Amino acid sequence: MDRIPIAILISGRGSNMQALIEACARPDYPARIVLVFSNNEKAAGLKIAQDAGLATHALDHRQFASRSAFEAQLHKILQKAGVRVICLAGFMRILTSEFVKAWDGRILNIHPSLLPKYPGLDTHKRALDSGDAIHGCTVHLVIPEVDLGPILGQASVPVRPSDTVDVLARRVLKEEHQLYPDVLERYLRNMTA
Ligand code: GRF
Repeated sequence: MDRIPIAILISGRGSNMQALIEACARPDYPARIVLVFSNNEKAAGLKIAQDAGLATHALDHRQFASRSAFEAQLHKILQKAGVRVICLAGFMRILTSEFVKAWDGRILNIHPSLLPKYPGLDTHKRALDSGDAIHGCTVHLVIPEVDLGPILGQASVPVRPSDTVDVLARRVLKEEHQLYPDVLERYLRNMTA
C-alpha cells in the first residue's frame, strides 16, 4: 500500500497530533507523517513529534513581514517534504485564501464544536452558556472562510449540568482523538479510490 504523505501543523500541546501519530503507526493506516510543523518554537507537541522520530520544523510567524511571506516559506517547506495532505491540529494561524486555494481540498482541520455551531474560539464556554444538551467536535475541509468548510465527520458528547469548561473540554477532546484519525482514514481512502 502506498501511504499518502501528510504534514501535521500545530501550535501547542499536540494531543490530536499524537492521536494521528498513533494511527499512522498501524500497518494498514493510509498515511505517513513526513513533517510536523509549528509556528511556535515552544509548542509542546514538537517534542512529542521528535520523540516519535518525526521530522519537525518550527518557524516563528512573527519573524515575517506579512502573513503571505510566512505562508510562502511554509508552502516551500511542505513541498520540499513531499506533502500531499495537510492536517491542522490546533494550528492557531488563519491561512490566507491564496494558501488555501493552492492546497484546495487537501487541508483538514479539527474544531471543538458541532459546526456550524460556534466557529472561532471559546467553543466549550459558548456551548455551556447556551445551555446546550449536546456538544462535540468536527473535522472539516478548510476553505478561505474560517471554520466553514465542508464537514467530513462529527462526534457528539452530552453536556452535563455539573460541567465546567475544563470538564467538558476533556470529554470533547477524547472524542477528537478518535474522530480525527477515523475521518482522515476515510478521506484518504476516498482520495485514492
Ligand atoms: C483542539 O481542541 C482542537 O479541536 C482545536 O485546538 C485544540 C488543539 O489541542 N483546534 P491539541 O494541541 O491537539 O492538544
